[in-house]
Amino acid sequence: RPVRLAEYRPSDFLIDAVHLDVSLDPEATRVTARLAIRPNPLGPENAALKLDGEDLNLVSAEIDGAPLRVDDLDVTPSSLTLPNPPRGPFELTLTTLVDPSANTRLMGLYRSNGAYCTQCEAEGFRRITYFLDRPDVLAVYTTRIEGPEAETPILLSNGNLVETGPAGDGRHFAVWHDPHPKPSYLFALVAGDLGVVEDAFVTMSGRRVALKVFVEHGKEDRAHHAMESIKASMRWDEETFGREYDLDVFMVVAVSYFNMGAMENKGLNVFNDKYVLASPETATDGDYANIEAIIAHEYFHNWTGNRITCRDWFQLCLKEGLTVFRDQEFTSDMRSRPVKRISDVRGLRSVQFAEDAGPLAHPVRPQIYHEINNFYTPTVYEKGAEVIRMLKTLIGPEAFRAGMDLYFDRHDGQACTIEQFIACFAEVSGHDMSQFLRWYDQAGTPEVDIRTAYDPDRKTFTIDATQKTPPTPGQQFKQAMVIPLALGLVDEDGSDIPLVVGGAHAGPVIALTAENTRIVFENVERRPVPSLFRNFSAPVKLRSDQTVEDLLFLARKDSDPFNRWQAVQTVALRGLVAGVAALREGREPTEEPRLAEAIGRAFDPAETDCAYAAQIAALPSEGDVAREIGEDVDPDAIHSARSYLKASLRQRLAEPLAAAFDRLAERGPYSPDAAAAGRRALKIAALDLLAAGGERSGVERAFDLYKTASNMTDRVMALQVLSLHATAEREEALEDFAQRYGTDPLLIDKWFLIQASAPLPDTLDRVQSLMASPLFDMKNPNRVRSLIGAFASGNPTQFNKADGRGYGFLADVVTELDATNPQVAARLLGAFRTWRSLEPQRRRLAESALQRLAALPRLSADVGDIVRRALAA
Ligand code: ARG
Ligand code: ZN
Repeated sequence: RPVRLAEYRPSDFLIDAVHLDVSLDPEATRVTARLAIRPNPLGPENAALKLDGEDLNLVSAEIDGAPLRVDDLDVTPSSLTLPNPPRGPFELTLTTLVDPSANTRLMGLYRSNGAYCTQCEAEGFRRITYFLDRPDVLAVYTTRIEGPEAETPILLSNGNLVETGPAGDGRHFAVWHDPHPKPSYLFALVAGDLGVVEDAFVTMSGRRVALKVFVEHGKEDRAHHAMESIKASMRWDEETFGREYDLDVFMVVAVSYFNMGAMENKGLNVFNDKYVLASPETATDGDYANIEAIIAHEYFHNWTGNRITCRDWFQLCLKEGLTVFRDQEFTSDMRSRPVKRISDVRGLRSVQFAEDAGPLAHPVRPQIYHEINNFYTPTVYEKGAEVIRMLKTLIGPEAFRAGMDLYFDRHDGQACTIEQFIACFAEVSGHDMSQFLRWYDQAGTPEVDIRTAYDPDRKTFTIDATQKTPPTPGQQFKQAMVIPLALGLVDEDGSDIPLVVGGAHAGPVIALTAENTRIVFENVERRPVPSLFRNFSAPVKLRSDQTVEDLLFLARKDSDPFNRWQAVQTVALRGLVAGVAALREGREPTEEPRLAEAIGRAFDPAETDCAYAAQIAALPSEGDVAREIGEDVDPDAIHSARSYLKASLRQRLAEPLAAAFDRLAERGPYSPDAAAAGRRALKIAALDLLAAGGERSGVERAFDLYKTASNMTDRVMALQVLSLHATAEREEALEDFAQRYGTDPLLIDKWFLIQASAPLPDTLDRVQSLMASPLFDMKNPNRVRSLIGAFASGNPTQFNKADGRGYGFLADVVTELDATNPQVAARLLGAFRTWRSLEPQRRRLAESALQRLAALPRLSADVGDIVRRALAA
């Protein structure tokens, strides 16, 4: 049953060309596939041909024009086998019927608000026709789509449009040809009555590419930001990586029913509409930023994913980690580099470190899977991007670019492995990459412990670094990793002293390759303050002997903006952990007054980088504190300690907070640009503290901002601040928001999310009653994620209610949803990724909810896989 990397074999057959003929019908779409097949010269001699299939209704089959009889074929629910296919090239023609209207899994061909669309990654193409549905079978596709002109005036597929015309009976057709060989997971088809926004891009070699963004009619004015983002992405990829687009047209389609964020189908990206639609009236700053980043991500896949794809699904990080790295760099160039880095690291720690610390931990490149859909994870994506970043840090930007050039050059048109990718960088840099490859194969977050000593007589500063990676499921013993330590030794005035080791210049990046490393820096006149893992140079957990004084010094003086932020976070985190311990022992938390001073600087009128200041002002999350504590976690105590700290900051900083809130008030028309968004973020950070503990004046300010907001960011963020405290204003604003925006599903998602995330005792009851409202739709993944996903993964105190109701509720929802959309159901269960670190009572309750799921008679492969792994000891 499980698939293992070690058992990879090339396909016995290859498919060079695919001619698809799709005749659309709501319940019985007829798909005729003509496949040009030949035995793989690398394969065995007398192999049977076994094609993948799922939920298909086979109508007929022919080989080279001759009908096949049913007993020439072996058809099961998941396959079609020709026991004795021709031993040379042949054409197999298969006709199948599929039912798009009944397709609630949203994999394969389905309907979204009446439009037809497809999602084929990872294994959805087999729900359209029988096929060798694996990424190392690359074919040239020609697709003819036929449908009723009235309902489907727009007919789209991959590649270039070659022909259109009437097909009789009110129907019409379009033929698309994609000259670039591709795996089946990149196939796409869209048909419907859609609005379009058009533009063009002239590539670096002077070719004109038509750009089209398709949205529901009436939403065209919300597609312009996506269009601008496409052009910016195209330009950036040319300038930064020398990559040019390669078809006559690039299309993006927004659909409202979508399992994930978006999909990089060749020339025809399909998007969750949440990541396309934006207008000043309907979108927040966060929406604008997400759209820009996700448009870029999918566009960048054209080279990292499509032109060069994955040999097998174990290599998923080959395209995802690399493409996330590329979109991070894009955003860094478009906006603020330090702010992007800080928010990525926050995200990495909150989801990937959490995954690594629990029962679902797996390597960036897993070695075994039961259900590939469950491996589209923060580890594969975000840790995968960190691995690329470390590679660049270790070999330097020039060698990194040279390695990328070599990779594009050598492997264009191929389905590759991580080894082939890394070999390019080994070759251009001369580095031995064998130890580096462990980042792909060894799971878990390495823990690095750093102790320092200054010797005033010898004028040396010694760093002793120890690394250890804790055991993870299936990997008891870990080897030493190569860990890039970007380091500065900071002098009194904030300058870095020269790093001299053994008489030679060293650093600023030192590779820690052994379990224990000692580095002795020479010519050190006085004790410096070490700034460790600058710019988060490795995805590790750091323990160090840095004192609070050291950290507060770094917060002011370090030249590295990431570590200035990190220093404040570390001081806050240490305080919060101590606060939790105090509360659990029945004491009052004691506070560090200098923390208020450090955070207060964020609100100083002299601080001009507001987005950065907002990051300084944002305390570690409850999840951050839980991870730092690691075991016997009590979410209520964490929430109390954090609320306590916020209230004390409010008291200490009352004046600067109020002044900043007033100073940052919106003036003039809304612009989503990074600087304006930064001002709003800092204003909201001030508001959040002003309203800490439900303080009246803060709540009143929030209510006032809610009512007078001139843009969606202020309105939603004010509502979010109000939602944290049980007040009349809260209820009035929530009511008002529903009145104003009840007809806009994406805005209702925000309203759902805000209510589901509130740390209030009646939240679960609210979530349950909202599920019964006509605004909720269990078949729409966005609704499910914003109401139930936000509750389960974004509300530590209420999901982890001490009576276990939160767990039971999630188990019930997952049970129900599993019958229609197993992929989304399995994703919700991710909320259990940290259940083992809870205090005993909650742990028992979480375990019994999981066991209840495990005992169900019919569980999908997706949910079954997560439940089993979550429960495995
Ligand atoms: N390749 C897409 C992206 O990251 C994600 C598609 C995931 N699909 C899935 N069914 N798991 O850009
Ligand atoms: Zn991707």
